[in-house]
Amino acid sequence: MKQRILVTGGTGFIGSHTVVELQNSGYEVIIVDNLSNSKADAVDHIEQITGIRPAFEQVDCCDLEGMDAVFAKYPGIQGIIHFAASKAVGESVQKPLLYYRNNLVSLINILELMPKHGVKGIIFSSSCTVYGQPDVLPVTEEAPIKKAESPYGNTKQINEEIVRDTVASGAPISAVLLRYFNPIGAHPTALIGELPNGVPQNLIPFLTQTAIGIREKLSVFGDDYDTPDGSCIRDYIYVVDLAKAHVIAMQRILDGKQKEKVEVFNVGTGRGLSVLELIHAFEESTGVKLNYQITGRRAGDIVKVWADPTLANNELGWKAETPIEDTLRSAWKWQVHLRETGVQ
Ligand code: UD1
Repeated sequence: MKQRILVTGGTGFIGSHTVVELQNSGYEVIIVDNLSNSKADAVDHIEQITGIRPAFEQVDCCDLEGMDAVFAKYPGIQGIIHFAASKAVGESVQKPLLYYRNNLVSLINILELMPKHGVKGIIFSSSCTVYGQPDVLPVTEEAPIKKAESPYGNTKQINEEIVRDTVASGAPISAVLLRYFNPIGAHPTALIGELPNGVPQNLIPFLTQTAIGIREKLSVFGDDYDTPDGSCIRDYIYVVDLAKAHVIAMQRILDGKQKEKVEVFNVGTGRGLSVLELIHAFEESTGVKLNYQITGRRAGDIVKVWADPTLANNELGWKAETPIEDTLRSAWKWQVHLRETGVQ
């Protein structure tokens, strides 16, 4: 019998890639998504890629009864991967209550329902944003948690605490907190990828939209930072590599191989790239020239952060393997696919 996994936010960017990897690894997947920032046709595309149609329920994780009904409809769910969350940093500053409600209530509901339905483990999507600007780079999981720069970042910190407190209280569950660095790229088939609503706030969707002519110019937010070329540095991780980390972490939970009931792993490449380096890597790997200009700094930006992924490498036996050139080509292929299919 295939093991049943519930994936909240499974039609979204990271969620859809993870569903593909789970199905390719033999899991049966049930997706729950309220479609607030994704489209139901992701389910079709997952089926096209894997040959298997995941079950899909359009339910908001904040709806406790709705979620209870999902668990009742699909008995025997063994693990949950909880992606569903609001994730725009700027919007979270404008609408803090929306962020606190969405991101906190959904997790609380799931944690409350897990013991009731005998679900063993949960993987929670956390973020390197919990480190703020680290004092030491590369940053390890031991680094102190800094005061959050935004309500969005704060929801990640609070949710990590909610998971820890729940497990510490004796709830019969265990957890893995995955701290993602900057997930980018798209599936090699270009059937699933990142689909931002409106004007993209993140670098790669803005970059590919500029390259294809939807946006006139990419703004590089600052070249006077304390970095070799003055632009900010991030650890860009290929979304398919990131998705695979979830499959390994879930198997570790289900096999009872965890060393502690709550484990934390950085999921990054270990390599920092500046915005300007990324732009040049994109131009070189795709042959597409990019129109960009240096503008002022963006409020709230971290100067530099990249992962020490040693713990994930050693404990999970997972490593980010995809070269940045392939990752950037996949993002470009996705953007071209969106144009060809008339989506963007
Ligand atoms: C931040 C958070 C991350 C969160 C993500 C969600 C940190 C360290 N990271 O990512 O946890 O999941 O938001 O949105 O807090 N840039 C430009 N021009 C643009 C867009 C971006 O130069 O048009 C630059 C930014 O200044 C930054 C880099 O590109 O240096 C990456 O930006 P972005 O893709 O928005 O991600 P983060 O801000 O790193």
